[in-house]
Amino acid sequence: MKKIAVIFGTRPDTIKLASIILELKKEKKFFKVITIATAQHRQMLDQVLNIFKITPDYDLNIMVPQQSLATLTKNTIGKLGEVLLKEHPDMVIVQGDTTTTFVGSLVAFYHQIPVGHVEAGLRTNDKANPFPEEINRRLTSVLTDLHFAPTDTAKKALLKENISAESIFVTGNTVIDALNISIKKNYKFTVPMLNEVISQRKKIILVTMHRRENWGKPMKGACNAVKRLAIQYPDFNFVFPVHLNPVVKEVVHNTLDNLKNVFLIAPLDYSDFVNFMSKTYLIITDSGGVQEEGPHFGIPILVLRKVTERPEAVKYGTVKLVGLDEDKIFRTSKRLIENKSAYKKMASAVNPYGDGLSAKRTVQILKNYFNISNSLIKEFIPHK
Ligand code: UD1
Ligand code: UDP
Repeated sequence: MKKIAVIFGTRPDTIKLASIILELKKEKKFFKVITIATAQHRQMLDQVLNIFKITPDYDLNIMVPQQSLATLTKNTIGKLGEVLLKEHPDMVIVQGDTTTTFVGSLVAFYHQIPVGHVEAGLRTNDKANPFPEEINRRLTSVLTDLHFAPTDTAKKALLKENISAESIFVTGNTVIDALNISIKKNYKFTVPMLNEVISQRKKIILVTMHRRENWGKPMKGACNAVKRLAIQYPDFNFVFPVHLNPVVKEVVHNTLDNLKNVFLIAPLDYSDFVNFMSKTYLIITDSGGVQEEGPHFGIPILVLRKVTERPEAVKYGTVKLVGLDEDKIFRTSKRLIENKSAYKKMASAVNPYGDGLSAKRTVQILKNYFNISNSLIKEFIPHK
């Protein structure tokens, strides 16, 4: 029996670890799963835990309003250290690129516990973009023993950093496992406003923003672009679930309050969000996860970033890196609203990120690692 500690703390890492936790829990004969929530996020984490019916064994309740990166890191190290000292698991699993991810792998290393990193190998090779996630990923990689790379591109990035090929597996991204669990035909939204927006039968543009490197002027510019679009296209509805960070809320509300066809709403629970996403016309976002989910539905995405660590869907043509320039965001969106053939060219469903079997592969790899089994791992290969 091997004890696996799964550490998570924010909305995206929890969404992407949920299928692995559920899959590990099916293997009661071989694995004891300890779930540790740093709760770097609070409400946005609890929404995900409710949807996937996960009750953490430990909840470190780290979040304080407007936490600085340094304080967040310090508090997480201290509290996680105590739990790992007590539990001393056979492996720690972390996901992605948050402070929880990096600190989880660091504290595991201090306790000489092997680390499994889910969504390993994403890179922009630009220290400042995304900030601080690019560095969190790189720091996590040097502390990791098993690298679960979502795509072949990610695997190649790890090989370039001299990480041994035997420790890297292309699993696909569990973001697609989570979608498969949550997307339902005839889904009933829990937030009545979403039903109302859909019943208006206008085309919908979904917007999300939160990245630290976009705070201030860039975010203001992007919001201005959305405002201009909303004014120019009253026949479109703009739905914007606003991240709970007060820095983000302030600029979004200051710019977009009181526009008839802009709906600024609280973060949606994951099921509402992805089922609603599937009904939208266009997505404008700086999110990592949303960039991976949109292509699954064939919805064009404009990404509010200078660079992306997810080049696959850009290559397939469903994602365009539009940057943070107000005019460029406005013009590119306008073209997709007015030009049918430009829109059609982007709107094809592709699945470069996963096939829904990533959690199963990950658990199989763990079984091989611990000599519980010795099965051949069929790595993820995307089909267009
Ligand atoms: C974090 C991650 C980022 C990820 C994002 C997903 C780091 C450094 N950043 O950024 O990689 O893309 O989560 O959303 O790990 N807040 C609440 N309630 C919540 C969540 C946040 O009030 O449920 C507010 C708090 O004031 C908190 C602030 O948002 O202090 C910032 O949260 P934090 O986790 O530090 O950073 P994010 O910007 O959310
Ligand atoms: N998401 C959600 N509710 C929302 C907005 C997003 O559940 O109101 C989900 C979305 O489906 C995706 C994840 O949150 O899986 C992305 O999180 P976020 O954009 O906060 O972080 P990132 O992926 O950029 O790290």
